[in-house]
Amino acid sequence: MSFPNHRPRRLRTTPAMRRLTAENRLAPADLILPAFIREGLTEPSPISSMPGVVQHTTDSLKRAAAEAVELGVGGIMLFGVPAVRDAQGTASLDPDGVLNKAIRDVRAEVGDDLVIMGDVCLDEFTDHGHCGVLDADGYVDNDATLEIYGRMAVAQAEAGAHVLGPSGMMDGQIAVIRQALEESGHKNTAVLAYAAKYASAFYGPFREAVDSQLKGDRRTYQMDAANRREAILEVELDLEEGADMVMVKPAMSYLDILADVAAMSPVPVSAYQISGEYAMIEAAAANGWIDRRGAITESVLGIKRAGADTVLTYWASELAGWLKES
Ligand code: PBG
Repeated sequence: MSFPNHRPRRLRTTPAMRRLTAENRLAPADLILPAFIREGLTEPSPISSMPGVVQHTTDSLKRAAAEAVELGVGGIMLFGVPAVRDAQGTASLDPDGVLNKAIRDVRAEVGDDLVIMGDVCLDEFTDHGHCGVLDADGYVDNDATLEIYGRMAVAQAEAGAHVLGPSGMMDGQIAVIRQALEESGHKNTAVLAYAAKYASAFYGPFREAVDSQLKGDRRTYQMDAANRREAILEVELDLEEGADMVMVKPAMSYLDILADVAAMSPVPVSAYQISGEYAMIEAAAANGWIDRRGAITESVLGIKRAGADTVLTYWASELAGWLKES
């Protein structure tokens, strides 16, 4: 009787055997929770396209941060939704503006027990919804925007952010932010560069989350989904400019990019499982079409397996809770 020479199934026979031989593992410390705070709210406000995610009040944000610490989550990435917007995104620079105040409040709540990150980008603060300021032709003005990013970075560092996350895809943004931080005495504030960030249809629900005013798209600054090699160029530039960590975004439709970046990056690599990825799984699960917990766990594990050291995911705290119990 003939028999297979190799039986890979031997290592799959029991849960204990599978656990022992797993090549990758998820840990709460790898997870970063993106969170929204909206100015002037008295109650947390649900985001309809992201069931389970809310726009926070100061109090509910502090509670979410404290819970993340409890669960062993690695970090929190803060996004602010201001009450008033203008063409220059002025509210981003106000030390008492919604995002800077949230950074200060969360830092006061959790201290150094959670890595506090701030979104350095203008899209939540501008009345046209673009990630930078516009020139006379309505084109996003790269260098005028850089000047504002530098000041925004200093304001967030002063508020107590441990890490800054520039997400606007302006050329030279990491260098300008690094220089502004050094000159203002914030030499230990780290930069997580959104290095390879693609123009994506999957950002849809985020635009609701931040009440985005955007008409049109971001294709003149975010990357084209067709491009793979270009991601390496973007990462190399950000490393040259002083990035401490680099990110690929979105995650699930860009796992090839993530694997490429993980293979060449000498610094930790993040991936952002974005709002549309969250919404798809929640919607399918709500219809009973997929197993919610299984799909969430598998999706984040897939991102880890492709090469991410850390994963930004709206499920960070819930997933950390599951990991703790198992
Ligand atoms: C821009 C920004 C976006 C996201 C994070 N930062 C939106 C965009 O580029 O249009 C999207 C995150 C998500 O979809 O979950 N500041």
